[in-house]
Amino acid sequence: MKQINILLLLVIMVFIFSSCESILPKAPDSSDTIAEPIEGLTPHQLAFFMEGDELFAKIFTPDEGLVPIFIQNACEGCHVGDGKGHPFNKLTRFGKYDEDGNFDYMLDQGGPQLQHRSINNYLPEVLPENATHFSDRIAPIVIGMGLLASVDDQTLLDLVELQNNEMDGITGKVNYVLPNDFFLSEDIHIDSSGYYIGRFGKKASKVTLLDQVVFALKQDIGLTSDFDTEDPINYVIASNTSDGVPDPEVGSDVVNRLVFYMRTLKSPSRRNETDQSVIDGEQIFKDMGCVKCHVQTLTTASSEIEALSNKVFHPYTDLLLHDMGMSLNDNYREGNAKGGEWRTPPLWGLGLADDSQGGIGYYLHDGRATSLEQAIEMHGGEAAGVIVNYNNLSDEEKGKLYAFLMSL
Ligand code: HEC
Ligand code: HEC
Repeated sequence: MKQINILLLLVIMVFIFSSCESILPKAPDSSDTIAEPIEGLTPHQLAFFMEGDELFAKIFTPDEGLVPIFIQNACEGCHVGDGKGHPFNKLTRFGKYDEDGNFDYMLDQGGPQLQHRSINNYLPEVLPENATHFSDRIAPIVIGMGLLASVDDQTLLDLVELQNNEMDGITGKVNYVLPNDFFLSEDIHIDSSGYYIGRFGKKASKVTLLDQVVFALKQDIGLTSDFDTEDPINYVIASNTSDGVPDPEVGSDVVNRLVFYMRTLKSPSRRNETDQSVIDGEQIFKDMGCVKCHVQTLTTASSEIEALSNKVFHPYTDLLLHDMGMSLNDNYREGNAKGGEWRTPPLWGLGLADDSQGGIGYYLHDGRATSLEQAIEMHGGEAAGVIVNYNNLSDEEKGKLYAFLMSL
């Protein structure tokens, strides 16, 4: 009797152990993770990438210069796992029009961005009372940036011409902005009498990834760098805005690694690409004219990083500004970009968006849409014609379209 019991126990234990694999959560499939380097980096480049990865996740402390005011203490605080941010962490830009009708970013009153957090014993910044224009934004996914950065300006100008001459109602334009002092022009940039074409940020106001990273360090995390040595101004306590940490708080070694990390994060692999509904959905996406702005294929120019050189890739953006109509108009200007104008966001990674947003996908510049359906229905302005096609789809066709978008 006793022996039979032991045997039974053994059988049960073997059963439990052998089925453990199906009980334990599976490790994420490598195609589902996005924090990976592009293929073809040299060992030296890979080491640089890993160092950048650590800095992107690093929580900066007051001793290191995170002070006195900031929005988040790490890049990842907003770009969670390199993905899209939650509306909980959205940031606010502010400004006003001056008497001459020029847009004023209120730099002397702590503009253009509100730092609503502060360390102990410091007052956080508040919106100046005379600010009249505001722009809320959630963090975008930051993968594949190096590919976008390596597209020739001429490609963007050609797309502008194509859209304006051959596409009814679609009138994309580039944002011309004045570069910072530290801007280094590369072959891919075309200078228009001192102005350069912006391509990063939701209104394409930053020309290079270096511009974007230096701006983020200062305006999002409150860190000065070799490139911008002044702490953000806090108008609330105008006389006491600086921290005790000598400037620059981070050196060009940190900035360069962060920029390199941004350049070399790969875009995610597609999922369920061969499902019939995904294939049909892609056709519907093309037929409706979504691709007029969400351009499927772009090619990079030659780059000193071999892995980014002359590459054909599929970001689903034209990197151009489009007037998206009244309901998406925040009346906030950036360079040439008017209130209703937004840069077409890349759609790659869309199906992974909710992973970094707490399980619910938040879409559009400020995360106001909580489903793909809402995000599409809120398109107006230049997209109005294409949205008529969308509204004419059957429920089954819409389902296929979403299946395609989720496979990106
Ligand atoms: C407070 C939240 C927040 C933090 C912290 C933050 N970002 Fe961002 N990031 C954003 C938002 C919002 C945008 C869009 C900005 C715009 O529209 O101009 C953005 C844009 C970007 C872009 C351009 C993406 C594109 O599609 O054009 C890059 C690259 C980037 N951030 C990198 C960084 C790095 C590197 C850090 C850390 C040094 C960082 N960010 C810290 C919120 C944040
Ligand atoms: C006129 C250019 C244009 C056309 C045509 C267009 N879009 Fe967009 N799309 C945009 C812009 C610009 C945004 C960003 C708007 C914002 O953030 O407020 C956007 C945002 C989106 C988003 C949200 C992305 C995100 O990360 O939040 C989805 C999804 C989307 N578009 C799908 C589509 C589909 C599907 C179609 C075709 C039915 C389409 N778009 C047609 C320009 C366009």
